[in-house]
Amino acid sequence: MMLEKQSVVIAGGGSTYTAGIVMMLIENQDKFPLRKLKFYDNDEDRQNIVAKACEVIVKERAPEIEFSATTDPEEAFTDIDFVMAHIRVGGLSMREKDEKIPLKYGVVGQETCGPGGMAYGMRSIPGVVELIDYMEKYSPDAWMLNYSNPAAIVAEATRRMRPNAKIINICDMPVAIKKSIADIVGLESESDIVDRYYGLNHFGWWTEMTDKQGNDLMPKLKEHVAKYGYAAAEGEGNPLLEENSWMDTFQKAKDVYAVDPTTVPNTYLKYYLYPDYVVAHTDPNHTRANEVMDNREKNVFAECERIAAAQTAEDTTIEAGEHAEFIVQLAGALAYNTYERMLLIVKNEGAIVNLADDAMVEVPCIVSKRGYEPLCMGKIPHFQKGMIEQQVAVEKLVVDAFEEKSYQKLWQAMTLSKTVPSASVAKQILDEMIDANGNWWPELN
Ligand code: NAD
Ligand code: G6P
Ligand code: MN
Repeated sequence: MMLEKQSVVIAGGGSTYTAGIVMMLIENQDKFPLRKLKFYDNDEDRQNIVAKACEVIVKERAPEIEFSATTDPEEAFTDIDFVMAHIRVGGLSMREKDEKIPLKYGVVGQETCGPGGMAYGMRSIPGVVELIDYMEKYSPDAWMLNYSNPAAIVAEATRRMRPNAKIINICDMPVAIKKSIADIVGLESESDIVDRYYGLNHFGWWTEMTDKQGNDLMPKLKEHVAKYGYAAAEGEGNPLLEENSWMDTFQKAKDVYAVDPTTVPNTYLKYYLYPDYVVAHTDPNHTRANEVMDNREKNVFAECERIAAAQTAEDTTIEAGEHAEFIVQLAGALAYNTYERMLLIVKNEGAIVNLADDAMVEVPCIVSKRGYEPLCMGKIPHFQKGMIEQQVAVEKLVVDAFEEKSYQKLWQAMTLSKTVPSASVAKQILDEMIDANGNWWPELN
């Protein structure tokens, strides 16, 4: 069957993940053929580093695709079927502040969890909303698939501020975890796993996992997680785990699991259940942002510059990982009506029966041309319900604070977070973050 060709814009063309997505798109020309591929970014120099390399890659491997890079929204968003978005408003230098400021007060400093995630949310909301507006203006029928973090807060903000927008907020963490799980239980691929999962973004639990034949994978998996977390017994497996900080996170899942052995957890729950451990094991002068700047950013850009100089990508080390695989698979399901089952961040509306309808939850959905249809995960127990409701309130308070420009609401949000010990600590962190964020945030009153 001839598949209709698609036109895609990658927003955040200068992202460290863009080249990987391009590799995945090219490898998938039989399943998701492209007529056009565009990059859009508001930082021309940064985007050009990646674009100059990707131009070579496209010319070499899929010359039939029309490739371009621009900072002009009209050019970028005109005649588009999909926006694949992964912007980082404020860049890695602001991520560094999100992480380091809370740590000064003995609080978790993390990209998406705790006060750091809230600070990032306040910056990210207007950036993502602007992308939606460009899409609706120039290609009103397009879908936006959004990785831009903090996805939970962004999802709540876009639900409220652009309720009819065709945006789907997504996260690659469950896919990355399932990749390790597939190794653990002896399956070839994470797509061989059928799962039931509920929660919020970076805040959820699996209740069931089977293979495609319906065989229960949980007993074997739990036995492993109780000993090693999601790390392999011999310490190999998922390429993410080549980095020590991710290895620690995957191993720590063992202790997260111990709190509720009826489920298996998302790795991000370590920040809420073991914040004291996380703080004790973080160097406050060298956080994850520094690691990313020293490693991923440096390596990806060096490789891009090498390709551009050589004018060939024949021997490139750029790889398409699960991050790229997931977003391309989602676009394919929407374009070609595949009815695949995927975890997406969507309005609850009964998916978790005993949780408010207007919470943005992460649950399995069936994806087709009609969009996504969430599956009902039933009622959840007291422990998860209590944690989730607290975290939903935090995320809603951040969006309240953004919309109302309210100091009070942001202070309440930080105070309510399970990562913060008291209102006074919350206030000190907030005051320092207001200074650090300057014009990236609305002025609070
Ligand atoms: P990065 O800083 O390398 O790239 C982000 C790009 O966005 C930069 O080129 C920057 O110039 C651009 N940008 C910033 N603000 C913009 C705006 N308003 N309009 C257009 N472009 C803008 O960041 P990265 O490490 O590659 O990560 C990119 C994003 O993807 C981050 O938000 C990260 O958290 C997110 N991410 C999410 C998931 C997920 O599971 N949801 C997974 C991986 C990465
Ligand atoms: C996972 C999460 C993303 C997060 C990323 C951070 O992929 O799902 O939401 O942005 O990890 O990774 P990093 O390597 O930048 O710390
Ligand atoms: Mn994520």
